[in-house]
Amino acid sequence: MMLVLLLAATNAVAAATTRRSAREGGADDGKAGGLMAKPNCTAKCGNIEIPYPFGIGLGCYFGPRFEITCNQSTKELRLMETRMLVDSISLTEGHLQTKQLVNRDCYDAQGKPRGEDQSSGGLSVIPPYTISSDKNSFFVVGCDTYAHFVGRRGNQSYTTGCISVCKNNPNLYADSFDKNESCSGMGCCKTNISPLLDNLSLQVKSYKNHTEVHDFNACGYAFVVKKDNFKFGKTSFQYLNKTHRLPLVLDWQIGEESCQYAMQNKTTYACKGNNSDCQDKPSSGYICLCKPGFQGNPYLPDSCEDIDECALNSTLCNHGKCENKEGNYTCVCDSGYKNLDDITCIKVPSAKPLKISLVTYELELAIYI
Ligand SMILES: *[C@@H]1O[C@H](CO)[C@@H](O)[C@H](O)[C@H]1NC(C)=O
Ligand SMILES: *[C@@H]1O[C@H](CO)[C@@H](O)[C@H](O)[C@H]1NC(C)=O
Ligand SMILES: *[C@@H]1O[C@H](CO)[C@@H](O)[C@H](O)[C@H]1NC(C)=O
Ligand SMILES: *[C@@H]1O[C@H](CO)[C@@H](O)[C@H](O)[C@H]1NC(C)=O
Ligand SMILES: *[C@@H]1O[C@H](CO)[C@@H](O)[C@H](O)[C@H]1NC(C)=O
Ligand SMILES: *[C@@H]1O[C@H](CO)[C@@H](O)[C@H](O)[C@H]1NC(C)=O
Ligand SMILES: *[C@@H]1O[C@H](CO)[C@@H](O)[C@H](O)[C@H]1NC(C)=O
Ligand SMILES: *[C@@H]1O[C@H](CO)[C@@H](O)[C@H](O)[C@H]1NC(C)=O
Ligand SMILES: *[C@@H]1O[C@H](CO)[C@@H](O)[C@H](O)[C@H]1NC(C)=O
Ligand SMILES: *[C@@H]1O[C@H](CO)[C@@H](O)[C@H](O)[C@H]1NC(C)=O
Ligand SMILES: *[C@@H]1O[C@H](CO)[C@@H](O)[C@H](O)[C@H]1NC(C)=O
Repeated sequence: MMLVLLLAATNAVAAATTRRSAREGGADDGKAGGLMAKPNCTAKCGNIEIPYPFGIGLGCYFGPRFEITCNQSTKELRLMETRMLVDSISLTEGHLQTKQLVNRDCYDAQGKPRGEDQSSGGLSVIPPYTISSDKNSFFVVGCDTYAHFVGRRGNQSYTTGCISVCKNNPNLYADSFDKNESCSGMGCCKTNISPLLDNLSLQVKSYKNHTEVHDFNACGYAFVVKKDNFKFGKTSFQYLNKTHRLPLVLDWQIGEESCQYAMQNKTTYACKGNNSDCQDKPSSGYICLCKPGFQGNPYLPDSCEDIDECALNSTLCNHGKCENKEGNYTCVCDSGYKNLDDITCIKVPSAKPLKISLVTYELELAIYI
């Protein structure tokens, strides 16, 4: 409340200073660079930040699909409507990271199923969430292993699969895997997944119950995982034996309209303040961003604050003094240098004393006449 009054009453510079010191004094209202949760709302659960439009408790989130619950004892975050575990939330990309089960299919030396494993499973999300295709991959790992992947978008569905069969222990060749971090078919198979899926299901199976490879591989695995969060190599079989969940990325957006239509209704438009921008999502809906040169939470009024580029980087200007500007910076050049494009100082070439000799010549002429 006090914050709002101060903002209205003072100029931009004073207001920015006030906000900064309010933030430093506040217990847990966000990180440097802008208030991330709504004022008076829980900003963190354990170590995980909860930026608005997400929030805990009535009045703290943008809509029911953005409501989060925090288990105080376990510090586990869940999306209210889906009960899905939340690992992190990114505003700049419109991502939410969750953890997804690794499906496994294990056998004893005689080829009898171990029984305790979950060899099929899946994930179902509701709008505004979809399973990110550019941030995740589908992996199948094992030496007597194949798996189906069924993806759905609304009432459309498609099936893909991956097979990995090896006669020898791929770990023997794993030096070359490690160098190239590859999943090349030996012990591992990988495919991309199609965009905008809202439901996926996986099933992992074996051809010969791992009887021929049991010495070095008793289980097959299938999972969808965030890119760069799984690399096949020497230790992958051991790693997956004791890894039950892996990170997976969901995309989210606001509403179903494009920016152009959404911004026509200021009450429902989610991008707040003068320094926020709107970005269309490829399918439908939009996300909000701070304008270039600003940082903060674009879903909150006046949270996108100017970045002081000069303070962040003391060597930003060569041959000049850095001065911060609203949304940018400029270089005030040292003497002997001039400004090329506001941010680059170049040497001024030294002038020749040509004019003086001309003047002298004219004077001489005048005397002789
Ligand atoms: C935050 O809480 C304080 C104390 O409970 C209250 O005085 C203030 O009005 C609240 N601010 C907002 C923006 O709700
Ligand atoms: C928090 O987690 C613990 C352990 O999983 C569980 O027993 C408890 O019921 C949870 N509390 C809430 C409020 O969900
Ligand atoms: C092989 O595994 C399947 C289940 O995956 C099981 O139904 C079958 O009985 C197994 N075969 C043998 C010989 O144990
Ligand atoms: C798929 O859904 C759309 C709209 O939800 C509907 O018009 C269409 O008939 C459905 N197609 C099938 C094959 O069910
Ligand atoms: C790694 O694999 C890629 C694609 O399979 C290939 O283009 C690249 O040359 C390999 N790099 C090395 C260092 O072997
Ligand atoms: C998602 O797919 C799974 C497996 O095919 C199915 O059991 C589940 O009902 C689906 N969920 C929705 C919402 O379609
Ligand atoms: C996986 O780990 C369990 C113990 O957690 C162990 O008994 C089993 O032999 C391991 N399996 C493989 C294939 O490494
Ligand atoms: C904006 O949206 C709100 C809520 O849906 C609605 O009540 C209001 O009439 C809309 N305003 C305009 C100008 O369309
Ligand atoms: C936002 O921009 C409008 C129009 O340019 C201006 O009237 C208003 O004071 C600005 N608000 C803030 C907080 O800077
Ligand atoms: C800052 O100004 C420079 C030079 O005018 C321009 O190239 C650059 O894109 C601007 N940066 C931002 C964040 O607006
Ligand atoms: C600081 O700015 C200079 C000049 O633009 C750049 O070369 C350097 O990488 C920047 N340093 C950091 C830490 O960003």
